[in-house]
Amino acid sequence: MKIARFSRIGFILAAAGSAVGLGNIWKFPYITGEYGGGAFVLVYLMTVIGIGFTIMIAEMLIGYLGRLDGAGSFESLAPRFKAQWRLAGMLGIWAGILIMTFYSVVIGWIFHYIVVTLSSLPASVSEAETTFNHMLSEEIGTQFLFHTVSFLIIASILMRGIKGGIEKLNLVLMPLLIVIMSAMFFYALTLDGFSLAWDFMFKPDWSKLSSDAFVTAVGHAFFTISLGTGAILTYSASLPKKSNLVQSSLIVVALDTGIALLAGLTLFTFLYQYGAEPAKGPGLVFISLPAVFYEMGVLGNVFAILFFIALAFAGLTSAVSLTEPMVQYLVDKFSFKRSTSAILASLFFYLVGIIALLSNTTDYKELLTFGSRNFFDWMDYITAAIMLPLGGLLMALFVGYAMPKTQVYAALKDSLGRGFEFWYFMLRYIAPISLVVVMLNLLGIISF
Ligand code: TRP
Repeated sequence: MKIARFSRIGFILAAAGSAVGLGNIWKFPYITGEYGGGAFVLVYLMTVIGIGFTIMIAEMLIGYLGRLDGAGSFESLAPRFKAQWRLAGMLGIWAGILIMTFYSVVIGWIFHYIVVTLSSLPASVSEAETTFNHMLSEEIGTQFLFHTVSFLIIASILMRGIKGGIEKLNLVLMPLLIVIMSAMFFYALTLDGFSLAWDFMFKPDWSKLSSDAFVTAVGHAFFTISLGTGAILTYSASLPKKSNLVQSSLIVVALDTGIALLAGLTLFTFLYQYGAEPAKGPGLVFISLPAVFYEMGVLGNVFAILFFIALAFAGLTSAVSLTEPMVQYLVDKFSFKRSTSAILASLFFYLVGIIALLSNTTDYKELLTFGSRNFFDWMDYITAAIMLPLGGLLMALFVGYAMPKTQVYAALKDSLGRGFEFWYFMLRYIAPISLVVVMLNLLGIISF
């Protein structure tokens, strides 16, 4: 049975909804803060445009021509080694669902913060820090409750399918998200802190670019545009025939980058304006920002609620895209009903997510820490550092080497025109080589 297809705008919003997520609004500002701003932002931008955009076209192409779930699309398109290429698809499907184990917990924190900011904001950064750390390490019940809410919402959207669930969700939430983030940005523009934020983000200080910063920037470039797991691939399998993949990729990458820069500038303006630290780590939006909102007075209260709502929207539209590859896989492979598949896939991240949640708490930390990281951090590390770059590499190799060039050319010639050879070169050489270097560095095999 073939599922209902996306409309053109529905696909673009869904793919952009996948890309624009916690990565843009929560992670990008804090890693930019940690790694010192400008130079880091520049490496990130170069990677997104040079490598990310190149592989995004390839990933879309696999779904668009394969017309199946991640694993099935690889298998049906591979001229040889079908079973092996199928594994490349499986890798991505598992990466998505493993990311969800901690992503859903973080969405839970955000829901909790929407509720908390409705009643009061912390009066200082240290108060905010205590509140956040207390929630993280002591409040198992609260986190469990909101992780459950997140699971229920995600499962119920996925049960409704591509058209009635995912497309509808994105058609509503994405414009709202853009409106909220733009409103806050325009306010930030009027503040003195804006010029400091601008300099921080766009004046590169190369001395701050450690190899660690470099690798993080590349890894984040993948994560933020949802590359390497088949999330975009699964969506593009439901594209109408005769879609322009290059244009769609460009819009998705531009929207994602635009919102990350907008969020970064806005947050840093607020932080500078009220004398808070940009290098605050993962707690940036949960600790520094609420304290800054408090300083702003009434407007701050309104912004706080809007901000966490926007963050929740961004998180949910990404979460459905992280889970959908597994849902589609179960439908295609075992002919399960869509609703059964949606529940099974969601239950998996929900249950394993409970382990991730507990691994941050005082009571279970020790039990759930393995080597240098707790379970929560392992899920993040294994997916972002290993599975996504590897998935992206395999996609580049698949389209660049395994698929016949004639087939790839035929599908892209209208949209890429004379740019085809350049893109093909980037895909075959520049992208794979850069990825291998980054992965070897991450694994400690080489350093630079
Ligand atoms: N891009 C999303 C973010 O920035 C997360 C995400 C959604 C993702 N789908 C993905 C990451 C697929 C990697 C692969 O938060």
